Amino acid sequence: MTSPRTFKVQSFGCQMNVYDGERMGELLAAEGMRAAGDGEAADLVVLNTCHIREKATEKVYSEIGRLKRPDGSRPMVAVAGCVAQAEGAEIARRAKVDVVVGPQAYHNLPALVAKAASGTVALDTDMPAASKFGALPARRKVAPSAFLTVQEGCDKFCTYCVVPYTRGAEVSRPFSAIFDEAKALADAGARELTLLGQNVNAWADEGRGLHDLIEAIATIPAIARIRYTTSHPNDMTDGLIAVHRDVDKLMPYLHLPVQAGSDRVLKAMNRSHTASSYLRILEKVRAARPDIALSGDFIVGFPGETDAEFEETLKLVDEVRYAQAFSFKYSPRPGTPAADMAEQIAPAVADERLQRLQALLNAHQTAFNCASIGRRTEVLVERQGRKPGQMLGKSPWLQSVHFESAAKIGDIVEVELVSAGPNSLAGTELVRSAA
Ligand code: SAH
Ligand code: SF4
Ligand code: F3S
Repeated sequence: MTSPRTFKVQSFGCQMNVYDGERMGELLAAEGMRAAGDGEAADLVVLNTCHIREKATEKVYSEIGRLKRPDGSRPMVAVAGCVAQAEGAEIARRAKVDVVVGPQAYHNLPALVAKAASGTVALDTDMPAASKFGALPARRKVAPSAFLTVQEGCDKFCTYCVVPYTRGAEVSRPFSAIFDEAKALADAGARELTLLGQNVNAWADEGRGLHDLIEAIATIPAIARIRYTTSHPNDMTDGLIAVHRDVDKLMPYLHLPVQAGSDRVLKAMNRSHTASSYLRILEKVRAARPDIALSGDFIVGFPGETDAEFEETLKLVDEVRYAQAFSFKYSPRPGTPAADMAEQIAPAVADERLQRLQALLNAHQTAFNCASIGRRTEVLVERQGRKPGQMLGKSPWLQSVHFESAAKIGDIVEVELVSAGPNSLAGTELVRSAA
């Protein structure tokens, strides 16, 4: 196989997986490779995979199959991400890929590609103590809304979850490295930063917590908006809640997964919070920032979940009234404690529960959006809409808003929200402030 000249990175997972994909692209570009255009066949395809649920994992194998060209040849294939970490050796054996690289080793991607070009399958799923971040090239050009990983890994070991195994132990990047990257992202065009971590609110460095980091990043003039995700209820400190009141640039949105409404199920999940301790946190957050939009993650059909326990999830959802939510059918994952629990729930039962939960969540999301009609608010313009003259962006509450405007991508536009659907709102432009 010859050295690849063009590449494509396809990301299949969470926001951190997307961030990793961007960084891998930057690494390959720094080696003189060029990103293949839309529809152009690339010499190297990086499949940046996700292991969280069975469906996500299956995608890897179907994508590898799809890369075969009509003449039987195929590009160089690198499997990166969490499936590479969990099943790397097996993939290399089963699917004949050229490179396998885990989420903590991808700074070595160029060397692995060179090794593969010389004909040897290259595998690196080490979790080195030294940070990969130091070995990544500088940020150059990014979208107005950019991701920034500040914390990685998880020590919580929820019994259903693969992340502690695929991402490793909780590690916080140092304050100065994050601050420098935030400034570089601002110089590269970012106006909004979303701070990422598997448990982002567990971020800590020499006595400083996430709220200190948010306050520091808020001093960067070009950064107009700050968000963070994903938080764990147990790390929701009073200091962090207070910045929702005190830092204007911190957007009024909080993604705080609860997973279930039954304390017995939460215990079996090893969540280390109860339904009522979770609700108390939300009360405090709402007191600090009354207009906050709340979002959550839910799992239905966890082993042993009874009908009555599932009803407790619905009850909690009714109480919170989320502005947005992500809900999943429990998926048994190899190597996790829950996969070996007795009383796995029949798929048909889990399906029905998911439908009921999603109907309720969707109704609340629509109600939240409808309640926004008439509001005047700022929208960060992220891209062009499908119709000529139409632009798309996000409200402070992370709602998608479309409106007619001559604004440019990266502008912050004042709009009045005039109509709402379940997934987006329409707005009318009022005043524009240039980027
Ligand atoms: N660190 C984040 C992200 C975890 S993965 C967090 O703690 O929220 C995102 C979501 O996927 C989880 O919140 C959970 O709702 C869901 N999830 C994780 N493992 C799952 C599994 N085995 N089956 C179904 N959903 C799962
Ligand atoms: Fe997974 Fe739980 Fe850690 Fe989130 S907190 S990444 S759900 S183990
Ligand atoms: Fe998936 Fe790994 Fe993210 S398993 S959800 S890509 S941390």
